[in-house]
Parts: sequence; structure tokens; C-alpha cells
Amino acid sequence: MIIAVDGPAAAGKGTIARALAQHFSYHHLDTGTLYRRVGLELLKSDGDIHDSKIAAAIARNLHSYAYLDYELRTEAVGAAASIVASIPEVRSALLDYQRSFAEQEPGAVLDGRDIGTVVCPDADVKLFITASPEVRAKRRLAELQANGADVTFEAVLQDIRQRDDRDQNRAVAPLRPAADAVIIDTSELAADGAIAAAIKAASLAG
Ligand code: CDP
Repeated sequence: MIIAVDGPAAAGKGTIARALAQHFSYHHLDTGTLYRRVGLELLKSDGDIHDSKIAAAIARNLHSYAYLDYELRTEAVGAAASIVASIPEVRSALLDYQRSFAEQEPGAVLDGRDIGTVVCPDADVKLFITASPEVRAKRRLAELQANGADVTFEAVLQDIRQRDDRDQNRAVAPLRPAADAVIIDTSELAADGAIAAAIKAASLAG
């Protein structure tokens, strides 16, 4: 059983994917972390973030880089992740790992941008989690402030809009709902309501 959870930044897909995995006792992979690890490694190495050769080499050796969660969750790393994520060689280097993760028994939940469209087009359940940019910026601001970051709502909103634009308009695996995805808009939903809606949709679709 494979559940694909896609959507834009800070729409709540991570929370929903973790809750689905717990509910069904499935494995969970946050695929954004893979791109964040490539982005952070590039930032640390002082290499050119747009250098596809270096980025792909890092993606192919990703197991040799270990980072702490808080290092990966900054906005700078999120922005770097979305730049390296538009490099085709980086995406293809990460494909096999994601697909074999998805094949695990008794099932797996993968969240990202292209799980239902590219990584697992035959997933049993496909959810697309979305919310307005303003609601997403508010949530991301709270998350960043809880981690001690000194950021403004306007800066976070601008970053979210930039990332949406980059993710939706890139040539490879652009962010868009699969034709057979169930769309859940969490703009008006608190976390427990969004989780309940996702469990219901997954139970019906699976
Ligand atoms: O948590 P948030 O939604 O802000 O970001 P994330 O899921 O950690 O993803 C960071 C960046 O990685 C995104 O902006 C995408 O550009 C990229 N990504 C991707 O291209 N494909 C995926 N399956 C997951 C993430």
C-alpha cells in the first residue's frame, strides 16, 4: 500500500503524512528532507548552488551526509532545496531510493511535490494538500519562531510565493496535483481536522 501526499510549502503535508503513517502503521518518508540535505551540503561547501554536476554528485552520495533536523528546517535551506530540486540529475539520483522506500511492507506514506505524479504514479492513494499562501506563511512563521528564528510575516510570505513559483514552473516534475488525487484545502482546518479529512480520504480511496 502506497500513500502519496503532495502539496506546496507549509500546507500541512508533513503533519498529515506522519499522522497517516501512524494511523495505518506504515513507514513514512519526508522526501523534502532529501532535497534539503543536498541544498545544505551545497551551501556548506561554498559551491555554486546552480552547479548541476556538484549537486548531482552530492545527491548520489547522500547517505554520507548527516544533518540535524533543525539545521535542515531553516528558510535558507528550504530555498536552496527548491533550487537544487529543479536540476534533473539531482531528481533522478534520488528516484531509486524513494521508490524502494515506497515498496516496503505493509505500506508507506511519502510526502513531497511529485510523489503521485512521478515517484509513485501507481500509488494506491494520492492526496494533494493545499492552503492559501497567507495561511501557509502564518503557519511557517509560527514554526520558525518556535525554533528561535527572527523573521517577519512579509519575508516568509515572499519566500513561500517564490518557492511556489519555482516548484510549479520548473521543467522536471513540477508541483501539480495528479489527475486522480484527492485535494484537501487546509486553509480553514486546524491540524486535527486536516488529519481526520486525510484519514477518511485514504480509507475511501485505498
Ligand atoms: O516543508 P516544506 O514544504 O517547506 O518544504 P519541503 O517539503 O522540505 O521541500 C523543500 C523543497 O524541496 C521544495 O520547495 C521543493 O522544491 C523540493 N522538493 C521537491 O522538489 N520534490 C519533493 N518530492 C520534495 C521536495
